[in-house]
Amino acid sequence: EHCFTKSSDGFLYCEGLKVEDVMESAERRPFYLYSKPQITRNFEAYKEALEGLSSVIGYAIKANNNLKILEHLRQLGSGAVLVSGNELRLALHAGFDPTKCIFNGNGKLLEDLVLAAEKGVFVNIDSEFDLENIVAAARIAGKKVNVLLRINPDVDPQVHPYVATGNKNSKFGIRNEKLQWFLDAVKAHPDELKLVGAHCHLGSTITKVDIFRDAAVIMVNYIDEIRAQGFEVDYLNIGGGLGIDYYHTGAVLPKPRDLIDTVRDLVHSRKLNLIIEPGRSLIANTCCFVNRVTGVKTNGTKTFVVIDGSMAELIRPSLYGAYQHIELVSPAADAEISTFDVVGPVCESADFLGKDRELPTPAKGAGLVVHDAGAYCMSMASTYNLKMRPPEYWVEEDGSVVKIRHGETFEDHIKFFEGL
Ligand code: LLP
Repeated sequence: EHCFTKSSDGFLYCEGLKVEDVMESAERRPFYLYSKPQITRNFEAYKEALEGLSSVIGYAIKANNNLKILEHLRQLGSGAVLVSGNELRLALHAGFDPTKCIFNGNGKLLEDLVLAAEKGVFVNIDSEFDLENIVAAARIAGKKVNVLLRINPDVDPQVHPYVATGNKNSKFGIRNEKLQWFLDAVKAHPDELKLVGAHCHLGSTITKVDIFRDAAVIMVNYIDEIRAQGFEVDYLNIGGGLGIDYYHTGAVLPKPRDLIDTVRDLVHSRKLNLIIEPGRSLIANTCCFVNRVTGVKTNGTKTFVVIDGSMAELIRPSLYGAYQHIELVSPAADAEISTFDVVGPVCESADFLGKDRELPTPAKGAGLVVHDAGAYCMSMASTYNLKMRPPEYWVEEDGSVVKIRHGETFEDHIKFFEGL
């Protein structure tokens, strides 16, 4: 079952609570509203899918870095995937087991690699200079680092070019022509590096599991090649990237089980431990971005619903042309459907949350939600136009609404200039 449901009389609920009522009690609009039980259910789906395999679920913190959410996922048994020093610090702060953490990225800084080395986090090697930095970090920390080679398998994920990462001209990972160079370089540093596995990440919003299968076949062949040279590698990391049903059409999309089942035999046949790095598929559908309608206006052939939220809080539609489903939280007085662009108050024509959406005409002050806002929404929010980052709430198992992040305030902004 899913946390957000519409009743037959047209009210939106989150885990049995009327979203309209939650809006009344929230300190301000817009805000993000999560379901804690949905986060649990999504994580359990991965855990169940992984039964019978030795595995690590590394939640990609970039998707959503709310500390309360991280602590919850950690308690459920999750590890974490990190792409910056501060994400690493936050994961440690949230209590993640460093041996279930993977430090990833094409521009990792030496000082952050030193911290990773000290804590015993897995590190992905992304380039020649990255390998040099990892060796230097191992020496500074006085620790041998467990490394994986991030190999670029050149499989087309069939997604928006901004979220495709595993093709041959990508800035991420290493190409197969260079594999031998990296293996020799690792061999040359036996005191600093222990090669434990291979990693790939194809891209994000992938909706066909065949793509993961193709990549995994390529990756286990690399692992065979690496093992043939005497390395004891036993981790295969297939990255993240599983898509979700943003369109709410009821289309049957692959689930965690389908993803794992498509690589299971390969993992078994090589006696590997499987690492996966889900972000979106763990967290996106657990949240709505909740707004009030400021007003409705018409210009030329367009009619606009203006809401209090904007591209500052939720940039995916503006940045990728991404579709996120939009609906009203309560029935409109007039049920007749029209076509609207749903826009924010930010001074940019790129400031839209949805284009050509069919909705009943909302009254001023009506509640309007943008669905599937748990991943890459709050974590990509800015304070453009001084729209301060919104507060976050979640609904707990017992139906209570709890604030899980303060809204940023004007005073927070002024603090950046104090004492200068
Ligand atoms: N692992 C690596 C190495 C990654 O680069 C990413 C995401 C993930 C795991 C998690 O992927 P997921 O399961 O969430 O698809 N801002 C974009 C998405 C960028 C994804 C970047 N990498 C968006 O809003 O669609």
